[in-house]
Amino acid sequence: MPKTLIKQGVIVTAADTYQGDILVEDERIVQIGQDLRPERDAEVIDATGCYVFPGAIDEHTHMAMPFNGTVTADWNTETVAAALGGTTTIVDFAKQEKGDTLAHTVEVWKRRADGRTAIDYSLHVAITDLTDAVMGEIAHIVKSGVATLKLFMAYKGETMVDDATLLTTLQVARDVGALVMVHAENGDAIDILQRQLIAAGKTEPKYHAVSRPIEIEAEATRRAIALAKVADAPIFIVHVSGLDSLEEVRRARAAGQPVFAETCPQYLLLDESYLDLPDFEGAKYVCSPPLRAAFNQEKLWHGLANGTLQAIGTDHCSFNFAQQKHLGAHDFRKIPNGVGGIENWIQLLYTYGVKTGRISLNQLVELTSTNPAKYMGLFPKKGTIAVGTDADIVVFDPAVEQTITAASQKQNSDYSVYEGFRIDGAPRHVLLRGKVIVTEGAYVGDLRDGQFVHANPYGAAYSTEREVIVSAAEQIHHLFA
Ligand code: URP
Ligand code: ZN
Ligand code: ZN
Repeated sequence: MPKTLIKQGVIVTAADTYQGDILVEDERIVQIGQDLRPERDAEVIDATGCYVFPGAIDEHTHMAMPFNGTVTADWNTETVAAALGGTTTIVDFAKQEKGDTLAHTVEVWKRRADGRTAIDYSLHVAITDLTDAVMGEIAHIVKSGVATLKLFMAYKGETMVDDATLLTTLQVARDVGALVMVHAENGDAIDILQRQLIAAGKTEPKYHAVSRPIEIEAEATRRAIALAKVADAPIFIVHVSGLDSLEEVRRARAAGQPVFAETCPQYLLLDESYLDLPDFEGAKYVCSPPLRAAFNQEKLWHGLANGTLQAIGTDHCSFNFAQQKHLGAHDFRKIPNGVGGIENWIQLLYTYGVKTGRISLNQLVELTSTNPAKYMGLFPKKGTIAVGTDADIVVFDPAVEQTITAASQKQNSDYSVYEGFRIDGAPRHVLLRGKVIVTEGAYVGDLRDGQFVHANPYGAAYSTEREVIVSAAEQIHHLFA
């Protein structure tokens, strides 16, 4: 592979912002310095006037996932969209079918991804059926490079698990350094409210949100945190949607408990009023937890800025409107839950987070790359710009101005929840392990470029632990071997 020299960009990491040149060779960054001389065989990328970010890591995606009686958009389209938006790694949820083993679940997911992904990927495994045999598998699955487990406290009758499963999984995970991620909503309470709403003839999309008030999210968040404390395990709460659940996370962290959490762009930028749109258009915005009252957005931005929340993930779970969302035309319970957002999330967060002063440029990198890598066990291979790391690099031109429209998006959907949003800045070049996959804003890669990334246990959620020191030493040895 040719060497690449990225010249004169403003390099942004979670910690630093400085002008410099980056030399890339054999998939990795080999030198960072001032005025590096181009070698004869090096391709030169002029990054003058651009920021140079580590590739974004979206630690919350659902590709080609059977869900709500249909299947989400596929790897081949969504990872190209991701690459164009500056994402070079995703961590996707491999969802266990009832009765299946975890090993087979992961194998099925890899089969769906391999040869069909433009960017690297790692996996969480979503446990929906915790038998004794499955429990016995957890240590093996962690050894095989899947270090994060997901449990749903919602979606009764589908993926929901009970408290016994949650507690047991936390205990088993704790013993092997895996991190448990939780979808925190009280599925039993939602089920009752939904039956009552449907019986009363309230079938429109907006009742999806009525059936999942934030108290139901906050209660489950509190319960999950309490069970994690009992198990003496760290926990990661996914898609915190508003103030009440944010408060649960803040309180636990203030008390010194290892509780970590993410929010998603949709909760920062959209609100519940979209669910009222006429002609069933509200269905486009149906996701769980639902969009909240607008005042919650500023609370979440504060939570990101002050460290209550550690990461942003898209929860990219994309359906089309014409066929898939219409499955719930007569019953909001049948509307597939989820929205897409992987193509433009970095631009949206740059425009509405950094440019408005809500978060700094370094925090943008920390929340969308460095922390996701650290918590999901991918750091330091992924998640920063440093000598020895994978050369996953985004040359981001802040001068570009665009307006989001589904008509030109690469995500395979007939709508965008961000239709009409103005965005500043765009990736001009994107490198995946040193290979240029986006140049001048155009995708030039190959669906065979993406590789599975082995995740290590004892990630940042265990950072007070002795084991993490051992793990970090092993990783550094691996980087320089
Ligand atoms: O509505 C959502 N969030 N769909 C994806 C599955 C999940 O709950 O994360
Ligand atoms: Zn969820
Ligand atoms: Zn999700």
